[in-house]
Amino acid sequence: MRGIIAKVEEKTTIPVYERTVENVLGAVLASGDLWRIIDLSEEPLPLATAVLKALNELGYIEFNEEILLTKKGKELVEKYGIGKREDYTCRHCQGKTVGFDAFKELLKEFKDIVKNRPQPKHDFDQAYVTPETTIARITLMHTRGDLKNKEVFVLGDDDLTSVALMLSGLPKRIAVLDIDDRLIEFIKRVADEIGYSNVEIFTFDLRKPLPEYALKKFDTFITDPPETVDAVRAFVGRGIATLRGPGCAGYFGITRRESSLDKWREIQRILLNEFNVVITDIIRNFNEYVNWGYEEETRAWELIPVKIKPKHNWYKSYMFRIQTLRGSKGFEGEITAGKELYDDEESSTT
Ligand SMILES: [Fe+2]
Repeated sequence: MRGIIAKVEEKTTIPVYERTVENVLGAVLASGDLWRIIDLSEEPLPLATAVLKALNELGYIEFNEEILLTKKGKELVEKYGIGKREDYTCRHCQGKTVGFDAFKELLKEFKDIVKNRPQPKHDFDQAYVTPETTIARITLMHTRGDLKNKEVFVLGDDDLTSVALMLSGLPKRIAVLDIDDRLIEFIKRVADEIGYSNVEIFTFDLRKPLPEYALKKFDTFITDPPETVDAVRAFVGRGIATLRGPGCAGYFGITRRESSLDKWREIQRILLNEFNVVITDIIRNFNEYVNWGYEEETRAWELIPVKIKPKHNWYKSYMFRIQTLRGSKGFEGEITAGKELYDDEESSTT
């Protein structure tokens, strides 16, 4: 094991544990598909690919169309007692913990409306979730008492959550911002078409501090931050700054695909120590993203040892729900960072 870890450490500065190698090998035992292995290993892509390359160089696995253990590899998993990574995700809810039945009609309507949505733009680090995910968000937020007659802020809206919120008719008021004019125009057009007026829709770059009128006015926010620690601080912190006080809620996704647990600990430290909020829910792989089509332009493409396009939706994030208490506070500072706000050693999809 020590030899494998040393080899991985030549390729990346992301912390490597025995557990990391075990996770990747367990995933290789379960599937020969590169993207499924990354998905199942739950290690950040740059780390998972470094482990795969190290294992290959040391003769434990072979790269063909499929990734397979060699005889030496089979002996290794036998020696360490490494088991195949099983996937027993609940088939009824796909692991989302909420059922689809209550908002079946909303899902149908939503799918119909977003058919002609603007496609993801690489420049803005965009990738959107499946319609089922967006509707599951509405379902989840509603079950937590965060939508009915509440004022809801959507910070960044690739996923068109604001459209689903409008269609649901649950919130008292919605505000939505995004940096992408195309999305904002699309959301405005939908609001017009369905005759929804309790919504403010504006183009905004979240690196800038939010205007005074957006601060301390809302009950609930939802955002999907880029995955650097600074970006999470900025985007989630700005979300918290829009909340009116204690007893409000925020939702956001954090992935394992681009964030190690070491990074997760930093993120959780910011939530608890800087923002003074409490984490009430973390739902594994709640957010499922549609493959964005520009894979070949991403760092992930450079890193993967077998150049094949993903056949299933491999990119998922965990849904976090936080709640504010006495003494909670958000982030209102200016961000001067450029591209480094979006990229770190663990990121790979930009
Ligand atoms: Fe379930």
